[in-house]
Amino acid sequence: PGPERKNSRQRFVVSLSACLFDFVIQLLPTADEMAVKEDVRKLLERLIRTIEPDSRLLSFGSTANGFSLRNSDMDLCCLIDSDERLSAADLVTMLGDLLERETKFHVKPLPHARIPIVKLSLDPSPGLPLGIACDIGFENRLALENTRLLMCYAMIDPTRVRTMVLFLKVWSKRRKINSPYQGTLSSYGYVLLVIYFLVHVKNPPVLPNLQQMPPLRPISKEDTHVGGHNTWFFDDIELLRQRWGSSNMETVAELLIDFFRYYARDFSYNTGVASIRAGLLKKESKGWQNDLTGGRYHDARERNRLCIEDPFETDFNVARCVTKDGLYTIRGEFMRASRILATRPERAIVALAQLCE
Ligand code: GTP
Ligand code: MG
Repeated sequence: PGPERKNSRQRFVVSLSACLFDFVIQLLPTADEMAVKEDVRKLLERLIRTIEPDSRLLSFGSTANGFSLRNSDMDLCCLIDSDERLSAADLVTMLGDLLERETKFHVKPLPHARIPIVKLSLDPSPGLPLGIACDIGFENRLALENTRLLMCYAMIDPTRVRTMVLFLKVWSKRRKINSPYQGTLSSYGYVLLVIYFLVHVKNPPVLPNLQQMPPLRPISKEDTHVGGHNTWFFDDIELLRQRWGSSNMETVAELLIDFFRYYARDFSYNTGVASIRAGLLKKESKGWQNDLTGGRYHDARERNRLCIEDPFETDFNVARCVTKDGLYTIRGEFMRASRILATRPERAIVALAQLCE
């Protein structure tokens, strides 16, 4: 490209990066909101302990991994440190009754769901203009670990990683492609797509692969396995920050433009599996693709249109809810975003507004 075009591109990405930071900062939760949520967690923990004295209530998901937006829901996990405990289904039912009696929450116990949870919500009030939505699950230790993994990735390069993830969360919500119940992808799925891209697609990589780094000291199997799954990853972030300097100096805007282009055009949706643990895998090698249509294979195929391997539960496709139509819509949105950013409107702020229309 001639020097004129190169300059105009440079101006565009610099200004788009600045706009992205400003945009995302406005959407971060306030200190007040964080404090109210912590109070709610403590209150709920106190109540749960009247049923299970040896329990702890821990926060996971976006409130705990640094990727939360204003008014995002609270994901809570109850761990019980005693051997004799009630089943998750019984706990859900009992806790549901208790919360109904003792609090102002709207309570919906789901004891028979794949993962039994209690759903809670609080109506908006003057002190809490947007209300609160909260799910409480039990013994979901893998979710606590994957939350910690995402948090570590965020901490290695907070500016670029958090800005990209938070922007994509807003974008996917505004474009209505963030709803597993309607055949599109969960927030967790989008975060994994971003990390996969920064670890395995970008060259030089923006992030190291925390699950493949050599441990500092020998580790035993008991220390690293949760429910039969290897959850070890390099988590000494202080050390990493000293040692890991990525030689990739691209701005957030350049990374975002590339992200959209990659998922619009280059990712092999038909045969590929995005794995942050192991890079690009084949559906075949995981038994996630069957060429036979109909019969008992039909279901497997329908579930594996888009394949994203969970970092620890490696036989689990995080994107299993994405339908054929859902994937078509998501890819269409990646293409649309790519197109908008390629035309480089005069002002970056206009591009952002258009992206999230
Ligand atoms: P928002 O609620 O939109 O702010 O996003 P979030 O980051 O909280 O993501 P989401 O609510 O989709 O998921 C919350 C947490 O649940 C994630 O951080 C994971 O720990 C866990 N989780 C969600 N979906 C899955 C899944 O399909 N598999 C596994 N193993 N864990 C999941
Ligand atoms: Mg959440």
